[in-house]
Amino acid sequence: MDSITQGIHSNFADLTDSHAPAISMTSAYDFNSAQEAKDRFSGKVTGNVYSRFTNPSVDNFQRKLAIMEGAESAIAFSSGMSAYLALAVSFLKQGDHVLLAGGIFGTTTHLFRQYFDKFGITAKSVNVNNKEEWKKKLLPTTKMIIVESPSNPLIKMADIQWLSTLTKANNIIFVVDNTLLTPVNQNPLKMGADLVLHSTGKFIDGQGRTVGGVIAGRKAHIDILRSYLRSSGTCMSAFDAWVLSHSLDTLKARMAAHINNAKAIVSWLNINPNVRKVYSTFNSLLDSSSHCPVFSFIIRGGEDTAWRCIDSMCLISRCTNIGDTKTLVTHPATTTHARYTDEEQAHYGIDKGLIRICAGLESSEDIIHDLAQSISCAVDRNVCNAP
Ligand SMILES: Cc1ncc(COP(=O)(O)O)c(C=O)c1O
Repeated sequence: MDSITQGIHSNFADLTDSHAPAISMTSAYDFNSAQEAKDRFSGKVTGNVYSRFTNPSVDNFQRKLAIMEGAESAIAFSSGMSAYLALAVSFLKQGDHVLLAGGIFGTTTHLFRQYFDKFGITAKSVNVNNKEEWKKKLLPTTKMIIVESPSNPLIKMADIQWLSTLTKANNIIFVVDNTLLTPVNQNPLKMGADLVLHSTGKFIDGQGRTVGGVIAGRKAHIDILRSYLRSSGTCMSAFDAWVLSHSLDTLKARMAAHINNAKAIVSWLNINPNVRKVYSTFNSLLDSSSHCPVFSFIIRGGEDTAWRCIDSMCLISRCTNIGDTKTLVTHPATTTHARYTDEEQAHYGIDKGLIRICAGLESSEDIIHDLAQSISCAVDRNVCNAP
């Protein structure tokens, strides 16, 4: 039985005998005695204490996700960014240094560079595929390396095995953001990462309803994060965890459908004369099991043309998210990656004409039809005439 099947069949919330797990909407729990309260608070006996850090619905989601990622344990947070915050506060101290893959989600870089600097924690970015640069920028104080694989929006794969060897030799915590591929298409822990992180409002949710984050890895690491969560209170809600547990059950089927659509659209974009470049796993990877439904393209003409193209879309939603049933479009240079300077954007390839698409679950012909008319409107400056 593979880990996805096991995850689907694993429901841990011991609430009722309902086949679909019930939701545990409660702030607190009854203790049978003062002694039991003391023992649960101290951790001497297991059991729920208070929903800031123990809740059956959240526990169910964490355990299902851990199984699918091949992890000993997992812990959920209120957002992907609060998961990043948890990593930094739990594992870093004054004087420590962090290396981030260059060009990753702008807010992740901003969090480390803008806010931790004043606490004496420094962060530098590295071109993800430049091995010499990783070695050169490594300091004796480097304590954490963070990559997205693939990165968003340029879909660059990190060499996880190589980075794992580098980090193990230097006693560095190696974190892989697996939001774009999900546990269905990549298990970074099995490739040598120490911790895997997801923004769960993306493909794991699948319908754009929730905001959340989760980190999976060895129990020793997750216990440290759990202790932080108890003090920080940046927890996932029971309702969101319940939604996400159900979503995990359909993740494999949804990813296959997203990927089929992305493949058809990328093949069409590859031969479109108004498209200067396409970034996608379909153009770079042979292994079909790790393709990604997110891809980007540079339209001829720069930012004005890119904006006209986005504004001419009728079916595709202008929406800064990924992993929805609807196909979504973003202009990274002015939204998700606007926190990088112009020089950094140029350095990491965030072109002003770059348009990011996340293929939804509509019929691929309809998505291609909308792209065809919007690209033509943008380039030829026609009035949008789509239905
Ligand atoms: C790859 C990636 N990681 C992390 C995040 C942050 O997650 P959240 O929006 O849940 O805080 C995002 C957000 O869009 C993302 O794209």
